[in-house]
Amino acid sequence: MPARNISEVTRETWMNEVFPDWGTWLNEEIDGTEVPHGKFTMWWLGNMGVWIKTDRQTNIAVDLWCGTGKTTHNKPDMSARHQWSRLTGGRKIQPNLRTTPMVIDPFAIRTLDALLVTHFHHDHIDMNVAAAIVHNVESPIPLIGPQCVVDQWLAWGVPAERCHVVHPGDEVRIKDVTIHVVESFDRTVLITDPVKVETSSGSADIPDMDERAVNYVIETTAGTIYHAGDSHYCTYYAEHGASFDIDVALLAYGENPVSVQDKMTSVDVLRASEALNTNVVIPLHWDVWSNMLADPHEVETLWKMRRERFGYRFHPLCWLPGGRFVYPDDRNKLEYYHDRGFDDRYTHPVDLPYTSFL
Ligand SMILES: [Fe+2]
Ligand SMILES: [Fe+2]
Repeated sequence: MPARNISEVTRETWMNEVFPDWGTWLNEEIDGTEVPHGKFTMWWLGNMGVWIKTDRQTNIAVDLWCGTGKTTHNKPDMSARHQWSRLTGGRKIQPNLRTTPMVIDPFAIRTLDALLVTHFHHDHIDMNVAAAIVHNVESPIPLIGPQCVVDQWLAWGVPAERCHVVHPGDEVRIKDVTIHVVESFDRTVLITDPVKVETSSGSADIPDMDERAVNYVIETTAGTIYHAGDSHYCTYYAEHGASFDIDVALLAYGENPVSVQDKMTSVDVLRASEALNTNVVIPLHWDVWSNMLADPHEVETLWKMRRERFGYRFHPLCWLPGGRFVYPDDRNKLEYYHDRGFDDRYTHPVDLPYTSFL
């Protein structure tokens, strides 16, 4: 019940009325969408989070995360084991403030067939999302991820029977969707300590990537989506491009601060897209962190410079969080814009002092 008088207003009433930013608008849109035969629909949930709905109305969420970044300056320095300490030799906390609105309410999700998570970084896996899915989704759907992701879910109290460990080479069938698990190229995850792992002093130890992170090739009857998690650029994208017929590639794009190598840059996104032999590339992750914000128009500009020279057959899409993408309808689209509304104009008489008022 919204507050009606300032005497009723508290920080909690403000939080409840304002947050999440989009309320259940997107939940309702997803639930109310009937995907036509021969198509699939995706929604961007912010960062690397996407919702995929097939023409059999199967729903798959990937890297659904509803958390935040820094919220106060009052934090201790990073530990010596923190990945950014290890990479940069610094200790100051990074000013990574969340810039993306919260476009989905995880506690309003009732219908979902599987949750996939690529790796255990806390902008891809979320305790609130795990709780909401375990408690509120109508059927006991699987939560799927590599070993370190499952270790994190178990540590949060997710029942073991709901967790499904995958490795590169595995195939998982969810109704009409086949999920091929492939290698990740996320070198940052190799220097991040997962839950449960004994921290060794030996920084020269190279852990097993396959236990820490995976990429997903999600095959629907209307097309195939490649989700790269936070993978960096790697020559082995070309092997994945040769092994699978990829229609839409979702890649982690961002601006790396000096001394950080974490996200793909615009040229990396184009090189990976060419190697994957995809029809569409959608750069994601650029939206979320204040200190790594990037502009997908840079990818588009570079694509225009290079497409004739290299014979690019793919299109890059500048998407927006909360936006919808339909394949194949949007295959050649370069820029997404939200619904502008007012499509029922003049279905009623206008009520103005005279008709040429504006
Ligand atoms: Fe990550
Ligand atoms: Fe990330």
